[in-house]
Amino acid sequence: MADTRIPPVREMDIARPCAARIYDAFLGGSHNFGCERTFMEALERELPDIGESYRENRAFVRRTVEYLLARGIRQFVDLGSGIPTIGHVHEVARRRTRDFRVLYVDNEPLTVAHSKPLLAGESRAEIIRADCRAPQAILGSPEAAELLDLDEPVALLMTAVLHFVPDSDDPVALVEAYRDELVPGSHLVISHLTGSHDPDEMRILSGRYAETTDPLHPREVEWIEKQFGDFEVLPPGATYLSDWRPEPGQTAAKRRYRLLYGGVARKP
Ligand SMILES: C[S@@+](CC[C@H](N)C(=O)[O-])C[C@H]1O[C@@H](n2cnc3c(N)ncnc32)[C@H](O)[C@@H]1O
Repeated sequence: MADTRIPPVREMDIARPCAARIYDAFLGGSHNFGCERTFMEALERELPDIGESYRENRAFVRRTVEYLLARGIRQFVDLGSGIPTIGHVHEVARRRTRDFRVLYVDNEPLTVAHSKPLLAGESRAEIIRADCRAPQAILGSPEAAELLDLDEPVALLMTAVLHFVPDSDDPVALVEAYRDELVPGSHLVISHLTGSHDPDEMRILSGRYAETTDPLHPREVEWIEKQFGDFEVLPPGATYLSDWRPEPGQTAAKRRYRLLYGGVARKP
């Protein structure tokens, strides 16, 4: 596989809020600055309960990882991983098995710097600083070679990251390139922001993120469904995240916004 172009290395910018630390702030983490907390408060004034969308995404990650572990998947590549605290992939996996490996990938320099000490004692998880738009650099990295066996099935997580890739960078071709690289039995997990259900709320969210280092590119649910290609989308299919195998007591009706859509699919 050849990357048509390797995106430029992202520089550190702590003057503006960034997606990783905004997410961390909403999850109740401590790896964020004043500008992210100010952003969070301003957003909550416009969209009360928007925090549940962030927590909903993280809960979806946890449920999908548990589901994939139950299906025998032991290797995970997490693109746009953010800061791996508050119930992230290796923590979920560790509760179930000692036989797992996680390659985290993020392009935000401070996110990677904050993640390294968090993973220091964890021989089964590693983070690399790379741009998800460079599949060859990621899957061909020395870290991937050391940690993973790419001849065996992996789960590729693209949760809350594709909506940071603009159309000009051809996210459709990007996901296809990743799908092509995976061996049969591998799984693809996608969650993605959409304004299909709540267009006004999505407009407000996108307007706010335009002031950050990570502008949003929300897409219609039909577009998101197509990214699974010819993979078999597993029950219950692509859905709003709160409808994806909800836990008892977690009903969609309780959700104020439906802004995140996704699912899990298997390569035949
Ligand atoms: C909202 S967080 C999602 C974290 C995690 N994937 C989850 O779903 O819980 C999005 C992350 O994607 C990262 N990101 C955005 N664009 C990226 C890119 N082009 N390559 C790699 N990471 C990217 C951001 O730095 C941020 O940490």
